[in-house]
Amino acid sequence: MSRKEARSQKPEARIGTRQEQKRVVRSPIPILASGFWLLASSCILAQEHVGQYSQVDVETGFNLYNANCITCHGANGDSIPGVNLRSGQFRRASTDSDLNRILQTGIPGTAMPPGRFNTAELAGLVAYIRAMRDFDTRPSRGDAGRGQAIFEGKGGCTRCHRVNGKGSRLAPDLTDIGAVRSPDALERSLLDPTSGMLPVNRSVRAVTRDGKVITGRRLNEDTYTVQLIDPTERLVSLSKSDLREYTVVKTSPMPSYKNELSSGELDDVVAYLRTLKGSK
Ligand code: HEC
Ligand code: HEC
Repeated sequence: MSRKEARSQKPEARIGTRQEQKRVVRSPIPILASGFWLLASSCILAQEHVGQYSQVDVETGFNLYNANCITCHGANGDSIPGVNLRSGQFRRASTDSDLNRILQTGIPGTAMPPGRFNTAELAGLVAYIRAMRDFDTRPSRGDAGRGQAIFEGKGGCTRCHRVNGKGSRLAPDLTDIGAVRSPDALERSLLDPTSGMLPVNRSVRAVTRDGKVITGRRLNEDTYTVQLIDPTERLVSLSKSDLREYTVVKTSPMPSYKNELSSGELDDVVAYLRTLKGSK
């Protein structure tokens, strides 16, 4: 496959990774989840740094960037000479509203095209461009190579997680996690998985009329059915009318690594996760 073909195929592949989660966000059921986001974003508005962009926006922006911008600006945002999107310094913009304008009108007289994005999409793109910088400014304390060895070895992460097609589907695919989560969020996921858990990652517990208990990671849900991946990695589709009980579990099934790994090892794992940006 030529490099160009590889490029043109990448965006779809990457969008796929997170799409399952997005579908869950849009489904009508987690009213709780959207309540959470309202709450979270109103708290976040008060502060003026990394946390000001919501995780949902960053992920939306990441997908749009991969589909619309990466061909010119590159995965790292620095493919165009003189333009470095992840530096946080722009020649033609300083505020978010400047960025918004550029994304809509393009830059006349240059290759930068105008885009037709709705408000949520614009917010996502700006959040992602800003996040690119924020995620990079904290230097890595650990060693990514050692982190990968822990991830695949003694950490046992691949028992549940998948990276670049390797590992289990029980837990979220982490192939692009470094592009959509800040280093702090990654660290929190390892130390205290439940507090770091996003509503979209909650698993569900269902009890059928005949008393069978089914648990798993929710992939999709609508008014009548729910699809999940059970602990044996089987895709299960349940009809809600057949269920006696249906609950969304708010504690993470992921073990905390606080006492399992030394702080140096945790730094190594975080360093490795930060390199996972979907661009392999
Ligand atoms: C066809 C190629 C192309 C595509 C697609 C493209 N850009 Fe650009 N972009 C450019 C070029 C070239 C420039 C530099 C224009 C100049 O100032 O000379 C630029 C400039 C920018 C700037 C201003 C940088 C600065 O330093 O002021 C931003 C922000 C930007 N692009 C974001 C995006 C985003 C986000 C997308 C996707 C929605 C995107 N671009 C899609 C070619 C592209
Ligand atoms: C027993 C299964 C299991 C193991 C082992 C496990 N995880 Fe997880 N992990 C999960 C589940 C389920 C979630 C989703 C719920 C949550 O966010 O806590 C998750 C979430 C995460 C997240 C957050 C994902 C997101 O979208 O924000 C990260 C990062 C993560 N795990 C990294 C790791 C690393 C690194 C290891 C190994 C050191 C590991 N996990 C081991 C089950 C596991």
